[in-house]
Amino acid sequence: MRLEQLRMQGLRCITDADVELDPAINLFVGANGAGKTSILEAAFLLSHARSFRSGAREALLSRGAARLSVFAEVRHADDRVCRVGLGRSGIRWEARVEGVNVAIGQLVRECAVVCFEPGSHALIAGAAEERRRFLDWGVFHVEHDFLSHWRRHQRALKQRNSLLRSPSMPADELFEPWEAELALSGAHIDRQRQAYLDLLRPKLRASVTGLLPELGELDLRYRRGWSDDQDLTQQLRAQRGRDRARGHTTAGAHRADWSIAFEHAPLREHLSRGQEKLTALACLLAQAELYAEHRGEWPIVCLDDLASELDQAHQGAVVAQLVAAGAQVLLTGTEMPQALTNVPSRVFHVEQGQVTRLL
Ligand SMILES: Nc1ncnc2c1ncn2[C@@H]1O[C@H](COP(=O)(O)OP(=O)(O)O)[C@@H](O)[C@H]1O
Ligand SMILES: [Mg+2]
Repeated sequence: MRLEQLRMQGLRCITDADVELDPAINLFVGANGAGKTSILEAAFLLSHARSFRSGAREALLSRGAARLSVFAEVRHADDRVCRVGLGRSGIRWEARVEGVNVAIGQLVRECAVVCFEPGSHALIAGAAEERRRFLDWGVFHVEHDFLSHWRRHQRALKQRNSLLRSPSMPADELFEPWEAELALSGAHIDRQRQAYLDLLRPKLRASVTGLLPELGELDLRYRRGWSDDQDLTQQLRAQRGRDRARGHTTAGAHRADWSIAFEHAPLREHLSRGQEKLTALACLLAQAELYAEHRGEWPIVCLDDLASELDQAHQGAVVAQLVAAGAQVLLTGTEMPQALTNVPSRVFHVEQGQVTRLL
């Protein structure tokens, strides 16, 4: 899929910008603080309904502006064009598809964006939440009922946590329905996550071999979030007291995690920052490729500040791979990256939130 048009209003330093994008490579160049990353954030917002940068979603709204909106025309591989938008006025976020207000879940199903950016190493070195988000985004696009299981799980988790925090210990009967729901929805989520990682593993091996051949064979491990040899319902019942002391539920699908171990770097502490970044990039590319295999089209790929994140050889390899796959790419840099000098691309200059097409 590709973005044909991207319009942003009230997004960080961008008051109003309307960009017509090339189906292949788009490069945004400009000084630091010009607004380049904000453009990638706009695309990412449509596919995730949040930014890849940490911090509150509210920080996206331009200071002093009353409204933020991002709008795009997405052309799919079958030539279908879909108009999607996400906006915030007042305290409400609203998603739109073809001009009609829809649930966020429907918006993010229409538009898929993966982004490699200076914070991407957190996927390898950061908290488990980052890895669960990555995993769940992938599962969401492959398994149509994942979101409903996930929502049921979130609701039951919230209920159980509020029981745990009540001033006196509630009766067992109050816990039981929520624990049964956590076990049931958790089992679905677990099965779908495992199946997804099984599909991802060979893709990840291939993409890692290309980017990090020096680290040897790769192993992708998954932890479901509760004990392997105990049923979750039993486990939840047994640890009510302990969970109450902690104030939250300590076992379940919300505690799942996955990790990567290399033959020549079995622990993640063995990786240099550069290797963490390349591993994260390999994960994103593998995920994009798996998406393409299932959906018949590549997601849009954003590469923020590529030249400062990767050495020239890796930049060239990644861009060549994406061009060969026919993916639309949105790249940023303070200048034209070496890797793009011989690749036809549409170039935009970004300055103080204004975007101008150069080539
Ligand atoms: N909510 C906001 N309102 C107005 N300006 C903002 C807001 N958040 C960030 N900015 C500013 O917007 C600019 C956007 O920066 P960014 O997109 O990261 O630029 P670049 O990637 O080109 O370095 C920065 O100068 C930053 O100070
Ligand atoms: Mg930037």
